This record gives sequence, C-alpha cells and structure tokens, in this order.
Amino acid sequence: MEPKLFTLSNKENIKVTITNFGGRVVSILVRDKEGKMVDVALGYEDLKSYQKENDPYFGAIIGRYGNRIAKGKFSLDETDYQLEINNGPNALHGGSDGFHNKFWNVEQPNAQTLILTCFSADGEGGFSGNLNVKVIYSVTINNGLQIEYAAITDKKTIINLTNHTYFNLNGEGSETDILNHILTIDADKIVEIDETSIATGQLLPVTNTPFDFIKPKKIGAKIEENHEQLQFGNGYDHTFVFNKQQGNLEKVTEVYSPITGISLAVFTDQPGMQLYTGNFLTGEDNDGKNRNAYRFRSGFCLETQHFPDSPNHTNFPSTVLNVGETYKSTTIYEFGIHK
Ligand code: GAL
Repeated sequence: MEPKLFTLSNKENIKVTITNFGGRVVSILVRDKEGKMVDVALGYEDLKSYQKENDPYFGAIIGRYGNRIAKGKFSLDETDYQLEINNGPNALHGGSDGFHNKFWNVEQPNAQTLILTCFSADGEGGFSGNLNVKVIYSVTINNGLQIEYAAITDKKTIINLTNHTYFNLNGEGSETDILNHILTIDADKIVEIDETSIATGQLLPVTNTPFDFIKPKKIGAKIEENHEQLQFGNGYDHTFVFNKQQGNLEKVTEVYSPITGISLAVFTDQPGMQLYTGNFLTGEDNDGKNRNAYRFRSGFCLETQHFPDSPNHTNFPSTVLNVGETYKSTTIYEFGIHK
C-alpha cells in the first residue's frame, strides 16, 4: 500500500499533516512570536521512510500497549499471555506489528477532522481479543491538535494508547536542541524504573529531585545530574503521575521555547505522561525533513498514557478492557505564544 498524506488546518494558524501509515503526525505548523509558520514536529523527508526498521516511532499512534511490559508477560483471568519481546528483555509499544506500523483506514469529513480506524486480530503481538480501534485527529479553534482514541474488544484484553510525536518548539531541525525549553508538569510523583526501564511498582516523589517540574524549569537544567533514575533512562524517559483526578480532561503540562516563543499546553484525561527527551536519537541518519539528522535530544515526546506495566501492578490504575466496554481517551496539544 502507498502511504498518503492528509492535511488539517484551521484559520491559517495551525496546519497538521498526517499519514495513513501508523496514523503518524508528519508535521505541525504553528506561528512563532513573529507570526512565521514553524514546523515543530520531527519527521522524515520521504513518507516511505516511516516504514524503515530503526524508525524511533516518529509521530506514531502507539498500541496496543504504549510503554513497557516486563518480560512481555501478564495474566488475565488465570490465562497467561506472552507478548513479543522487542526491547531488551521487555515488550515495548505493541511489538513490531504495533499500530505505528499499520496502514489505517482514513476518512476526512472536513478540513479540521481526520478519522482513522484499524483492526487488530485476536493474538496479534500476543494480545487477546479482536480489537477495533478508532482515532480522531482534529484541529481546534484554539490552535490545538486534539486526539480522541476509542476501542472495543470481543475478549477481555489490555490497552494503553498514545501518540509518539517528537516536538522541538525551536523548530524541527533547529541548531538548538530541546534542553532550552521551559517545562512545567503538574505531577508530584513519577513511576520509578529499574535498569531495564521497567516500572518497579513504586511511585517516587519529585521533591528535591531532577524530576521536579512543578514550577517552570529548563528541561536541561538537571538532566545531567547524578541521579540513578536519570542514568536508567539515559535522561528523562519516565512516566509522570498527574496530581489531577484520573478521567478529568485538564491541563497538565506547559512548555515553551524562549527562542521562537512557541508554547505547547497538554490537556488529557489520562493518569500519566511519559516525558522522553530523545535520548536514543543519534543524528546518524540524515533522512529527516530537509535532510536533517536529528541529534541526541533534538526532540521530546509527551506521551499521555496509563502507567507502564500496569497489568503487573495492582496498585496502578487498571488498563483492562472488558467485552461490552469502550476504551476512550482524549489528549489535546494546544499551541500558542508564551506571554
Ligand atoms: C519511548 C520510550 C523510550 C524509547 C522511545 C523510542 O516511548 O519511553 O524508552 O524506547 O520510545 O525510541
């Protein structure tokens, strides 16, 4: 199948392109403080490159289970499941046939909305249940990119959907990495990880640690600090546990670039968000847009989601989807100019 490109736009102040392969966000053009349109999403020059083996999930819809599951194992109603192991000893982002690597069916009812659907068969990647998934991308009147996820199953299963767009509010391909961005996250805790990046089950208070973004702070301010969690993640690669009540759609994060003035506010109903600071970007391939080679920490992801490895931690909010229920979640990435 040939990858195709679709454009969403709203009053010339936000323009988003999305491809049917992986439902990936290919570009996000928004205005900087001078009124110039700047692309703030990393991606490839050539649409076909999204299919390459070592793609770091640029812009992708992630499923069935975003983030890691320890050794790819979990049980539901006394049945043990084994997922594909694709990240050290663990399962990551739904495996090699995950949603990032599927061609989605696409409908565009109007200039602001794109409806994507896909089917994932019982047993795919080791997951149970035939799953029908719908993702609606829309641009809002407030210059937001809204993502609504929905799914139903015919057999009890687990689910944790997210989006893996890499942002650089200095502009993708900028000489300046993302460490100059000023970030605020309304989270008093993170999910602690071990040396294989698997959740230990403990939540760590952020107070007096490099993970304290309660007040606005440069992403780079403490990233090199000698903290075991930063060593395990090679930088920030952790789930922040929001202070808000789960299920409420609220603003949880704000970040801006002091260079372009572009700001990004994240609204979500999810209980957590993986802050990933592009620690595995190497700058080795120059197949990015305009032949850019995306260097170490030249993009960051804000993956709103449930906690990693939830099926193996009864103290974490449940990621189980039952027959007859509809999984639903909403996240809005809203752009503006920092005042
Ligand atoms: C992130 C994950 C990172 C890394 C990245 C893809 O979601 O937390 O550890 O795997 O995806 O390179």
